[in-house]
Order: sequence, then C-alpha cells, then structure tokens
Amino acid sequence: MKSFAVLLILFLLLIHEAVPKKQLKRQRSRYKKILRIVGGRLVHKNDDYLSAVSIIYRPHLKKDLIKLACGATIIHKYWSLTASHCLKPIPNRLIMSKHIFLRGNTTYWDGSSKHYQDHFIADYSLHEDYLGPQNQFDNDIALLKVKEPFTGVYEKPVCIASRSYTYIENTSAVVFGWGFTDPHKQDSNSKALKAADIRITNFSTCLKIHESINKMVSARMVCAWGHKTDSCTGDSGGPMIQNDTLIGIVSWGMECASDHWPGIYTRISEFPEWILRKIKSLSKTT
Ligand SMILES: *[C@@H]1O[C@H](CO)[C@@H](O)[C@H](O)[C@H]1NC(C)=O
Ligand SMILES: *[C@@H]1O[C@H](CO)[C@@H](O)[C@H](O)[C@H]1NC(C)=O
Ligand SMILES: *[C@@H]1O[C@H](CO)[C@@H](O)[C@H](O)[C@H]1NC(C)=O
Ligand SMILES: *[C@@H]1O[C@H](CO)[C@@H](O)[C@H](O)[C@H]1NC(C)=O
Repeated sequence: MKSFAVLLILFLLLIHEAVPKKQLKRQRSRYKKILRIVGGRLVHKNDDYLSAVSIIYRPHLKKDLIKLACGATIIHKYWSLTASHCLKPIPNRLIMSKHIFLRGNTTYWDGSSKHYQDHFIADYSLHEDYLGPQNQFDNDIALLKVKEPFTGVYEKPVCIASRSYTYIENTSAVVFGWGFTDPHKQDSNSKALKAADIRITNFSTCLKIHESINKMVSARMVCAWGHKTDSCTGDSGGPMIQNDTLIGIVSWGMECASDHWPGIYTRISEFPEWILRKIKSLSKTT
C-alpha cells in the first residue's frame, strides 16, 4: 500500500503531539511496507506540468530542513487540490501554520532552483466522506486555499474533468510527482519533478483483481498503469492529466510499476459539484 504522506505525518506528530508510543509503533510498521516509484522520466518542455506544486513541511521553523509531504494541483489563482490522505492525520493548527506550505513555479521542490514561490494555507477542506484506509481511501480529495495567489510564470491552473468526462480504457495520461525513485531506498524522493506515462485500466478488470484481495475499488476511483513506470510513494495528491485536464489525483495502490497492480487515482469527474460547493463556502469564511 502506498501512502507516503502518512510517514511524514507521523514524523510531525512525533514532534508536536504526544501520541501514545505503542500506537505510533503500530502505525509505523503498518506503513513501513510502502513501495516506491519505479521508472518515470524528468518532465519534458512540452509536458503540461505547470499546475503541479509540492506540499512541503518544515518541522522546525528555526531550521532550514524541509521535507516533501505530497503533491497538489493548481486549479485557480487561490485554489488547489490534493488527496485527503495527505492532510487528514495532521492537526488543523499545523496545516494552517508556517510549518506547511505549497511550493510552485519550480520543478525542484527542495529549493535548488531559486525561482520558487511559496504559498501558505489560508483554509482547506477534506472530503466529509473520506474515512481513510478502513474505507480503502474512498473520496480521497481535499481542497486547499492559499494565502498568496499562484501568479508565477510557471504556476498555471488546469481545468478539472467535468461530470461528463469519459475515462476511456487504454488511453494515455500523464502523472506528475516528486515521489521516491528507488524502490529499495527510503528518502530517495526526486528533487526534480518527474512524469510517468500511464494508460487507463479497464475498470472491471481493476475491480476484479482487487476483489481477490478484499480491496474495494469504488466508482470514485480510476485505475491506470504504465510499462515499468507508475506513480508511487511521495506522489500522493499529485495530478493525473489527460487532454490538458485534471482527471485524477494520486491516491493509493498495492505496488508501484507492477504489471499486476495498477495505480488508483481519485476520479475527478465525480467531484466538480463538491469542489464548487467547497470553494463557495470557504470563500465566505476567509
Ligand atoms: C518563476 O520562474 C520563472 C522562471 O524560472 C522566473 O522568471 C520568475 O521570476 C519566477 N517567479 C514568478 C513570480 O513568476
Ligand atoms: C493500448 O493502446 C496501445 C497503443 O495505442 C496498443 O499498442 C495496445 O495494443 C492497446 N492495448 C489494448 C489492451 O488494447
Ligand atoms: C473490460 O474488459 C472486459 C473483458 O476483458 C470487457 O468485456 C469489457 O467490455 C471491458 N470494459 C470496458 C469498460 O471496456
Ligand atoms: C482529447 O480531446 C480530443 C478533442 O476534444 C478528443 O477527440 C479525444 O478523444 C480526447 N482524448 C481522450 C483520451 O479523451
């Protein structure tokens, strides 16, 4: 199961919250089995990557150390989408603090290119029906409002898939992320943004192979696989793009770049009303 965000969040909790040790240990071992990105390529000039941003956290405000938490996608000057599982375990006051921010206008999350723009979080909304791993990450979507607008030359919003968007089997899409690149090494995430070319998997096939291990694939998900390339740990929350449209959010999967297990993405075409409703309600309060 890939769900990279959780590791970082445990780290955060270690610093900021008194979590019972026993519980922590249990959670940690559960997420130890996480597998990492294999394959992929550095983004090409003609890739539609400008909407991809990283979510970064900084454990100590007095120190420079930063860590990659997740990916996200710009959908408007002030708004972006990520996965609910990226934020759910983090206490509200931390998400809205200077410990966490979005970094855009760059393909390097770590600051090795100087042109990055950082954006603190003004408000956010997790999906009400997101229940986490016990519900197989159903409704894995979250909306973020940033304090500083996305106005950089390399910060461009992407359209979201509408209700009528059709996910056609075996058509190609691209997924972007800074996730781990070495399946055998912890903390091997990529400093430079990478892209993986993937194809939409036949949905009933995807259902069937997951049924065999009692994992639910819901109608709010879309499956896709690549040839020895895939999204993985650390790519969570990032964009899956087809036809200049955001059609998926990196959510979960059994293994990365496996011929047997496709990656599972949040099916954006199920959420345009939710997104609009949340934008309206958050706009009122901030
Ligand atoms: C964004 O990046 C580009 C190219 O690296 C740079 O020219 C620009 O000044 C940066 N900042 C903004 C706000 O666009
Ligand atoms: C999927 O599309 C590719 C390229 O168009 C083609 O080579 C391949 O045979 C197709 N696979 C299936 C299962 O239809
Ligand atoms: C998926 O594949 C099955 C057989 O392998 C086929 O019957 C079905 O029509 C396919 N589903 C879609 C949506 O193409
Ligand atoms: C992409 O858009 C073009 C033009 O609207 C359309 O013909 C094509 O079917 C779309 N491709 C996919 C995979 O949806």
